[in-house]
Amino acid sequence: MDKLVIEGGKPLSGSIVIQGAKNAALPILAACLLAEGTSTIEHVPRLLDIDVMLNILRELGCRAEHVGDTVILNTETAHTSHVPESLMGQMRSSIFLMGPLLARFGETQVYQPGGCAIGERKIDLHLEGLQALGAEIEEIGNRIICRADKLYGAEIHLAFPSVGATENIMMAAVLAEGRTTISNAAREPEIQDLQRFLNEMGAKIMGAGTDTITIEGVQSLTPCTYRVIPDRIVAGTIMVAAAATRGQVTLLNTNPAHLSSLIHVLRRAGVQIAVDGDIIKVGCPGRPRAVERVVTAPYPAFPTDLQSQVMVLLALADGVSILKETIFEGRLKHVDELSRMGADIRVDLNSAFIRGVPRLYGATVEATDLRAGAALVIAGLAAQGKTIVEQIHHIDRGYDCIETMLGRLGARISRYSPVPKN
Ligand code: EPZ
Repeated sequence: MDKLVIEGGKPLSGSIVIQGAKNAALPILAACLLAEGTSTIEHVPRLLDIDVMLNILRELGCRAEHVGDTVILNTETAHTSHVPESLMGQMRSSIFLMGPLLARFGETQVYQPGGCAIGERKIDLHLEGLQALGAEIEEIGNRIICRADKLYGAEIHLAFPSVGATENIMMAAVLAEGRTTISNAAREPEIQDLQRFLNEMGAKIMGAGTDTITIEGVQSLTPCTYRVIPDRIVAGTIMVAAAATRGQVTLLNTNPAHLSSLIHVLRRAGVQIAVDGDIIKVGCPGRPRAVERVVTAPYPAFPTDLQSQVMVLLALADGVSILKETIFEGRLKHVDELSRMGADIRVDLNSAFIRGVPRLYGATVEATDLRAGAALVIAGLAAQGKTIVEQIHHIDRGYDCIETMLGRLGARISRYSPVPKN
C-alpha cells in the first residue's frame, strides 16, 4: 500500500487553485440518471470516490469518460437499476443512487452501505423519505429492494438534517407527481449545487440552503452542461495546513462564504485571513492561540469534515482548547495517532480536551479515514523530523494527488509505492 513520506518543519508558501467539490460532484453525477442523454459535468476532481461512482454508472449501462476535470456522461444506455454489492461496498455514498434509479426505473436494488471508521452511518432517513414518496421497500439480508410504479409528492420532515437523505429525496421527488416539501433539510452548499444542477435540467426546486426545500414534480428532465462548485473542505484543509506550518498561502478558486465558520475559528486562533472575491490569503507568522470551544454541527456551523484538521492546529496552540464532535460518533480516532506525535489530547465521550504543545515530532502513523488522514499529513508538515503516513488510499478518496498539491506549496512530501512482489 502507498505511503506518504514527509520531512516536516517547513512553512507552506505560494498559491494554489482549489479542485472541484467531491461532495457536490457525487450526487450530481448520480442525478444525471434522471435525464436520458449526455450531460457534461465540469470541475470534477480526479479522486477514487469519483472513479467508483463512474464505475457504478458504467455497470448500470451508462457511458462515462473523465477527460481532464470534465466528465462526459451518457445515461441513455442505462439498462439496469441494480447496483452490485461489490461496488456499493467501495463507497458508502453510492446510497444516494437510490433516488434517481427509483425515479427513472420504478425500482432499484442496492445494499446496506454499512458503517465505516467514523460511525454507523445509518440510512433510515433515506428509506423513510423514499417511502413517503410512495416507494415500497423490502430488506432481505443486506439487500434493499425499492419499488414504486409511481412516485407522489409528499411532506417530509427529517429528524436530522442528513445531507445524503436530503439529496436522495430531492432526486426522487423531481419526477414525482405533485409537490414535495422537505423540512429540517440539510443546508450544505453541496445541496444548493445539486438544486442548481437539477433546475438546469428542467426541475422546479426552491429553498436549497434553507431548512425547507420545495420540489414541484415535472414530467421529464433534459441533460445539460454544469460546473461544480469548489471543494470547501479541501480549501479548509489547505488553510489549516498553512496556519499549522506558520506559512503564507493564497488560495484561488474558492467560495469564502462556504468557509465562514472555519475562518471565524482560525481568526480566533490568531491566524491572519484576508478575503478578496474567490481568493483567500492565509498567514500565521507566530504560534496560534488556543480556541476555548469548537463544536461541529450541520452547515452553516463548523463542519465535521474539518474537525480533525483543526485539531492539529489546536494541538500546537498556546493554551487549552475543547473540540466537540456531534455528527459522527467515531470521528476522534486520529487522536491516538496525533498523541504518538507528541500531542497532548484527552478524549471524553465525543469531546477532545487539547493542551497545546510547542512542537510535534515525526512518527509513522496510520490514516483511519479520509479527513483523519489529511490531518495526519498536516501534523507531519508541522512536525520536527520525518513522518510516514500509511493507508493513504483513504486520503486519495478526497484529495487529488495531495503530495503534488502540497509540494507546489513547498512541502517536502513524496509518495512511496512499494514494488509489488512478483
Ligand atoms: C455527507 O455524508 C458527506 N459525504 C460527509 O463527508 C459529511 O461528513 C456528512 O455529509 C456531514 O456533513 C458526502 O456528501 C458524499 P449525513 P452523509 O447523512 O450524507 C446520521 C467526507 O469526508 N444519519 O448528513 O452520509 C449519520 O449516522 C465525508 O467527505 C442517520 O442517522 O452524512 C450521521 O451520524 C465523510 N440516518 C449523521 O446523520 C440517516 O438516514 C450525518 O450523516 C442518515 C444519516
